[in-house]
Amino acid sequence: MQVLGIDIGGSGIKGAPVDCTTGKLLDERLRIETPLPATPIAIFKTIHKLINHFKWTGNIGCGFPAVITDNIVRTASNIDKKWIGKNISKIGGKKFQNEIHFINDADAAGIAEMKFGSGANSSGLTILITVGTGIGTALFYKDKLIPNTELGHLILNGKIAEHFASDAVRKKENLSWKKWALRFNHYLNEIERLLWPDQIIIGGGMSKKTNKFLKYIDVRAKVLPASFKNEAGIIGAALAVNNFKLV
Ligand code: BGC
Repeated sequence: MQVLGIDIGGSGIKGAPVDCTTGKLLDERLRIETPLPATPIAIFKTIHKLINHFKWTGNIGCGFPAVITDNIVRTASNIDKKWIGKNISKIGGKKFQNEIHFINDADAAGIAEMKFGSGANSSGLTILITVGTGIGTALFYKDKLIPNTELGHLILNGKIAEHFASDAVRKKENLSWKKWALRFNHYLNEIERLLWPDQIIIGGGMSKKTNKFLKYIDVRAKVLPASFKNEAGIIGAALAVNNFKLV
């Protein structure tokens, strides 16, 4: 089955058609800057551009950077606050001919990695951590997802973790790789102290830069880059359409 996977992030909205039996992208992905402010109208317009670009008539799966329960958007850390309380599936259903399904973006990336990537066949507790504009997390026991974990919002040194150790903070504060990695290591140690994962998969934009910082990371768990790198979010959003009863 083929699904258009879309990953809505704080700085870019990326999409590509995905073959859900293999997890492979069927076309070159398209990235469009996330509109600012990232209001519901602006984001739905961007989704429209992706649909038109791929001339897509089939199902669509979207990873979305917020907690979504019962189809309602509950948080809005890196998107416009107008999203809070909106029934995202209902609005999407009215705007598009296509069937459209939404899931938290980090959960989406986790699904791709657990099914076809670095987490495939893992037997214990896995946390995938996307590091980009924010910090997103996806928690799995074996292949079962515990949805909507927001461990990027743990408090570290009196600050929300993503305001202390995200990639956006690294760039904004012009931190050296070592300085940033020590912050991220502090964050991972806090995760480890609370959850004792067997493996930690690094996703988001940071998955492409692990050679810059893994040498500074000192945790008990195995730490691996996401094998689909930043495309995991697109692939997992598409997979979640078919599997979503399991998610
Ligand atoms: C949001 C999460 C999201 C993460 C990555 C955080 O600010 O609260 O829901 O997964 O950013 O986009």
